[in-house]
Amino acid sequence: MLTNKTVVLGITGSIAAYKAAELASFLTKSGADVETVMTESAQKFILPLTLRSLTHRPVVCDMWSPPENFSITHVALAQAADVIVIAPATANIIAKMAYGLADDILSSIVLATKAPVIVASAMNNNMYENPATQENLARLKERGFLIVEPEIGHLACDAIGKGRLADINTIISAINMVLGRAGDMAGKKVVVTAGGTREPIDPVRFIGNRSSGKMGYALAEAARERGADVTLISAAQLSKPFGMSVIYVESASQMLDAVKQSVYNADALVMAAAVADFRSKITSENKIKKDSLVLNMELERTPDILSEVKGDFLRIGFAAETEHLLDNARKKLADKTLDLIVANDVTTQGSGFGTDTNKVTLISRGGKEIDLPLMAKRDVADRVWDWVVANIDIA
Ligand code: CTP
Repeated sequence: MLTNKTVVLGITGSIAAYKAAELASFLTKSGADVETVMTESAQKFILPLTLRSLTHRPVVCDMWSPPENFSITHVALAQAADVIVIAPATANIIAKMAYGLADDILSSIVLATKAPVIVASAMNNNMYENPATQENLARLKERGFLIVEPEIGHLACDAIGKGRLADINTIISAINMVLGRAGDMAGKKVVVTAGGTREPIDPVRFIGNRSSGKMGYALAEAARERGADVTLISAAQLSKPFGMSVIYVESASQMLDAVKQSVYNADALVMAAAVADFRSKITSENKIKKDSLVLNMELERTPDILSEVKGDFLRIGFAAETEHLLDNARKKLADKTLDLIVANDVTTQGSGFGTDTNKVTLISRGGKEIDLPLMAKRDVADRVWDWVVANIDIA
C-alpha cells in the first residue's frame, strides 16, 4: 500500500514530535517516499537531522531557505503528495488550517494541496477541549480532513486527560485507509464478526472459547484498506480499529441482533467469530455460590447466526476443525447454504486460535477448493477478499 507513495509528514511543536520519528521510520521502511516538513517550534523538540537520517531525504524547515539537493517548492510538494499527515498537530496548526492561513511552509502546503490530509492532534487536554479547538476540528472534518483523535492518558503537563497523540499504529491505519480509498472494494459494504462469544452463567462465569478475534480483525482491516465500508461486530478483547463502525457484543444472541441490524445493503457477511453453540438455560443475576452450583447445568442451543441471516449478499463462514477438516467444512457450506467457507485446521502448528498466521482452504459453493499455505492472517484476509471481489455478482 505504501510502496512508492509520497507521504508528506508535517511535524508541529508538541512534545509528541519525537513520536513522528517512529512514524517516519515505519513509513520509509514500508517503501513510502517520506517528505518531512517541520515547523519552527517542531525543531525545538526534535532535530531535522533525525528525520533526515530516518527518511534519507532533506527535511523542509522553512519557506525561504533554498532546499538542499532538492528543487521542490511548497506548491510542488503539495502536488506531489499522495497524502499529507500532520502528526503531531498542535491547536495552532489546526486553527491555521481551519481558517486557511498560510504563514509558514506547512500551512502553505496544506492550503495548496488537493491530496487528503490527516490530522493527528496532540496537546494539553484543556486546549483540546476548548470550544475554539473543537470548532476548528469540526470545520476541518466537514471539509474532508481525516481527524485522528488524541488518546486519553498522562500528558506532558502532568495532567491526565484527552490530548496524547494517538498510537502510531492508529495513524498508520489512517494513512493506509486514505491510500486505499480508491481500492477494489471502494463502494462495497461488508460486515465482519470476530472473537469468541461469551454465554453468561452468572455475573462472574461464562461459557466461552479460545478464539482471539485476530482473524476477524485482520479481515476488517484488510477490507478497510481496500476502500470498503466496514462494520465489525466484535466479541473480542482487542483494541478498537480505526476507520470502521465497531459494535461490541458478548453473547450469540447479541451478535445475532447486531448482524441483523448491520447487513442491510451489505455486499458480504463474513462470520469469522467463534459463536458458542450452547448457553446456560438459566442466567443467575447474582454469583452462584459453589455449594448451590448444580453439577449438571442445563444447556440450550444458541441461535445459528449464519443459518438465520440470509439476503442479497455473499455469506461466508469459517470452519474451525480438529479432524476431517475438508469433509466437515464441505458439510457446513452445504447445511448453511454459504457462498464460501474458510476451512481452518486449528491443530496445525501456527494455525488457529491466538496465532498471527493461519493455514486455510477456501471452498466455494461451486465446489472449487483453494488450498493456501501457512500465511499471515492479514494475507489470508486478502485472499478471502480477492475471492469476494471476483464473485461479488453471484450473491
Ligand atoms: N456460526 C454461527 N452461529 C452459530 C455457530 C456458528 O453463525 N451459533 C458460524 C460461525 O461463525 C462460522 C460457521 O458458522 O462461520 C461455522 O462455525 P463452527 O463453530 O465451525 O461450526 P458449527 O456450525 O458451530 O458446528 P460444530 O460446532 O458442530 O463444528
